[in-house]
Amino acid sequence: MNIILLGAPGAGKGTQAKRLEDSHSLVQLSTGDMLRAAVASGSDLGRQAKAVMDAGKLVADELIIRMISDRIDEPDCKGGFILDGFPRTSPQAEALDKMLTGKGLRLDAVIEMKVDEDALVERITGRYSCVKCGAGYHDKFQIPAKAGVCDRCGGTEFNRRADDNEETVRTRLEAYRGQTAPILPYYRDKGILKTVDGMAAIDEVTRQIEAGLAA
Ligand code: AP5
Ligand code: MG
Repeated sequence: MNIILLGAPGAGKGTQAKRLEDSHSLVQLSTGDMLRAAVASGSDLGRQAKAVMDAGKLVADELIIRMISDRIDEPDCKGGFILDGFPRTSPQAEALDKMLTGKGLRLDAVIEMKVDEDALVERITGRYSCVKCGAGYHDKFQIPAKAGVCDRCGGTEFNRRADDNEETVRTRLEAYRGQTAPILPYYRDKGILKTVDGMAAIDEVTRQIEAGLAA
């Protein structure tokens, strides 16, 4: 099964992708995580992406499309993948279709996670993640069962993202509204768009996604 999680910054894409990885043995392909890894490694791609990401704008389509196409070719993606944060523009959506056809693959579902923008700044500014496995937490909404220990992998190191500040979040929301939300009709027309209530509690969002995938 190959699926897309589509939603505004802070909608819960990463949170739900990690759950789907565990429950369906899929691989999470988060373009944001890949870019942050490239920035941390100091690669050419990382150098090109850093300033754009810090400003909350979108990295150039060509770079992202090449990055995701190469990643899908890796053997661990054979059992299916979750695209988290890709596609985010019409050219990316069209390139994905061509890419999948060329690789003999197809999309099974696109899950839209619908949220109220007002809630997102609080979600994003309270977020932190496990350095070892990437599991996401929140100061208020998702606290590890044992303080300072990751529920998923037992890791004890956590970090916060450079772009998780109120000012950058506003620019990221604008990019979502202007460049990403307009691709929703593309998937609605294909009949594979399923919408879930991203404002619900984390477990309830998971339940709605599972119901959408089973339908
Ligand atoms: P990316 O890393 O994709 O960031 P984003 O889209 O802004 O989304 P986030 O990761 O912030 O949110 P999320 O939906 O994953 O939420 P999460 O589950 O963590 O992209 C970063 C940057 O990289 C972009 O700005 C751009 O520059 C570049 N980029 C990436 N992909 C690109 C592309 N395709 N093209 C061009 N540029 C690209 O949840 C957030 C918090 O809320 C967490 O703390 C969580 O615990 C909590 N939470 C989750 N669900 C709930 C819930 N239901 N109730 C309460 N709290 C919840
Ligand atoms: Mg994310």
